[in-house]
Amino acid sequence: MDRIIRFAGVTKRYETEDRVVAIDSVDLEISRGERVAIMGPSGSGKSTLLNLISGLDEPTSGTVFFEDRALSEMNDNELTLMRRKKIGLIFQTFNLLPTLTATENVSLPLRLDGMRRRTANARAVELLTRVGLNERLTHRPDELSGGERQRIAIARSLVFNPPVLLADEPTGNLDSHTGADIIELLDKLHDEFQTTVVLVTHNSSAAEHCERRFTMLDGKIVSSNE
Ligand SMILES: Nc1ncnc2c1ncn2[C@@H]1O[C@H](COP(=O)(O)OP(=O)(O)OP(=O)(O)O)[C@@H](O)[C@H]1O
Ligand SMILES: [Mg+2]
Repeated sequence: MDRIIRFAGVTKRYETEDRVVAIDSVDLEISRGERVAIMGPSGSGKSTLLNLISGLDEPTSGTVFFEDRALSEMNDNELTLMRRKKIGLIFQTFNLLPTLTATENVSLPLRLDGMRRRTANARAVELLTRVGLNERLTHRPDELSGGERQRIAIARSLVFNPPVLLADEPTGNLDSHTGADIIELLDKLHDEFQTTVVLVTHNSSAAEHCERRFTMLDGKIVSSNE
């Protein structure tokens, strides 16, 4: 299988007074198109693992590879492009800009990438339609429900058709019914684009949608369903 993400002996230590080991010698391979769920208690290193994949955090030791290239060997420009074009990020708190409409939130990354307004807006509308929000295009985040906000965030994460989607508790702020809708939407996107999905979740029924499931504890992967 075509490997897209690899961790080789990755450790992330925070040099605070208590010297927290957030990720402890992790080896991991994720194939293109695979869906991986990461579970585990608070503080076990789940968000840190995602941040290491996207290069937002750097390992203290060991190497993270994306498409078989070490992140440590990429220059700033290459890292920025990888983050922007190859990885979609979704968070528990949606991270939308409150003063922008749904369409503007989704088109913003395209505008920042130099796309003309009209083309960027058309692409945003196409994605918002795909996530079922075509009747909410001019609403601002505070005029939308939690599930609708998360769907905007998902549309935004997809503007560049990234091969990898990293989702950090995307249903954590949603009621169980709305959360199930979001997971169903991720399933649909996976079916359509074979997107690689790394899903951090406390919800075991959401995790069931992934072919592989890991549990983390104290920075280590302690169990998986393989
Ligand atoms: N910037 C930082 N400086 C120091 N320690 C940190 C920092 N970020 C995270 N940590 C520590 O690293 C450990 C792992 O944190 P992480 O955020 O990855 O946990 P998590 O599994 O995502 O938890 P949660 O389920 O609560 O989101 C925690 O003990 C945390 O306190
Ligand atoms: Mg976290």
